[in-house]
Amino acid sequence: MTTEAPQPVLEILGRTSLRGEVQISGAKNSALVLMAGSILCADKCTLRNVPNLVDIKRMGQILTSLGVMLKQTDDVLEIDAKNINPTEAPYDVVSQLRASFFVIGPLLTRLGTARVPLPGGCAIGARPVDLHVRGLQAMGANVSIEDGIVHANLVGNKGRLQGTNIYLDYPSVGATETILMAATLAEGETKIENAAQEPEIVDLANFCNAMGANVSGAGTNTITIQGVSELHSVDYHVIPDRIEAGTFLVAGAITHSEITLTSVIPEHLAPVIAKLNEIGCQVIAESDDGKIFGGNVKSQRLRIVPGELYGTDIETLPYPGFPTDMQAQFTALLSISKGNSVISETVFENRLRHVAELQRMGTNIRVKGNHAIVQGVPIISGAPVMATDLRASAALVLAGLAAEGKTTVHGLHHLDRGYENLEAKLSNLGARLKRIIPSGS
Ligand code: UD1
Repeated sequence: MTTEAPQPVLEILGRTSLRGEVQISGAKNSALVLMAGSILCADKCTLRNVPNLVDIKRMGQILTSLGVMLKQTDDVLEIDAKNINPTEAPYDVVSQLRASFFVIGPLLTRLGTARVPLPGGCAIGARPVDLHVRGLQAMGANVSIEDGIVHANLVGNKGRLQGTNIYLDYPSVGATETILMAATLAEGETKIENAAQEPEIVDLANFCNAMGANVSGAGTNTITIQGVSELHSVDYHVIPDRIEAGTFLVAGAITHSEITLTSVIPEHLAPVIAKLNEIGCQVIAESDDGKIFGGNVKSQRLRIVPGELYGTDIETLPYPGFPTDMQAQFTALLSISKGNSVISETVFENRLRHVAELQRMGTNIRVKGNHAIVQGVPIISGAPVMATDLRASAALVLAGLAAEGKTTVHGLHHLDRGYENLEAKLSNLGARLKRIIPSGS
């Protein structure tokens, strides 16, 4: 009989005030796609401000399996993709990381062939890759899916993907990234219409341009890429993580604490800050000796000054709408804000699973279809809860900070995918929490 290794849990003693400063790490979702983008060039690329996370390690394993050499020193990652081979990325890693699919565009456009297992990731919906596949097909690739493996090849003797106009049915972040990367080395011009406009797309375009690509319009709904024949080495700073920053802003709000975030680009948080203002918090941007990102954007400090909290309605949307990756954290926050709130999740179809766990803590939330109907309660109480996905795990930690008594968060492997040193950062702000192996397990 095999016994599973005991899994750690996070014990949180709630209702402590936070104070002080917290440094925001590099953006997970940007770093992941820039790692894949590094395959586009045969020279060494250096990425800075790379967060130390399980997802980043998994992406590293995928690149290594393709023959890429990696060297990591603190938050600096050197990537040497001189000798890549189009072997299949390992299924066990791919199945745990949706971003692993991002290697398909760079592999195909540089080598003319790619074999990538269908991806995994958070259990928040079906998450198909049809838009990625259709984009590559429109550029002349032959793409087939056999036994869960996506095979993509250049057809004919053209030797390169062909630029074309691609209209995305939905502004998918991943599909925009796949097509953008593939188009950098394609022959001619590619236009992506109804493109995603997320800051991570702009970061990818800036990164590709720093390697010698010709991408314009990133951050708008039409991106134009003039293909070039090769790209060169680059030394690049990953943008700050807007979702980590948003999560800490909610930590301030939910504990009624004034805290300051450093290394943030406030503009990336506009929809989150707007909602925090609406429910009764002031969020003040202050200049610091900020780093420069993407060539010309300077990071800043953000201070949250919470007041009395009131409910509001939220609908998740593609950027610049309210981010789906902040929905769970706001569900926790609104559950202790005065009055009623309706939260509508429109991006993913199965992303309200944290509600059942929040209910265990005494919140008053009902789920109806893709809506969470929240009636704010004055106080919630600690309970054992299970994280169901990455951002849900953050929501439970936040609820634990606000709750009376002890909350025990299980399923920490989700949290570790996407939050660098969360416990240490929260402890430094004065939170009372510790990761333990539960006795008796
Ligand atoms: C990225 C982010 C994720 C974030 C999401 C939306 C990474 C690694 N992850 O995920 O944290 O929550 O953007 O901001 O960057 N869809 C299709 N067909 C496709 C592709 C997507 O139907 O080919 C659907 C998805 O199922 C989903 C919606 O489009 O319902 C949005 O997905 P997408 O924008 O692609 O998100 P990801 O790139 O997977």
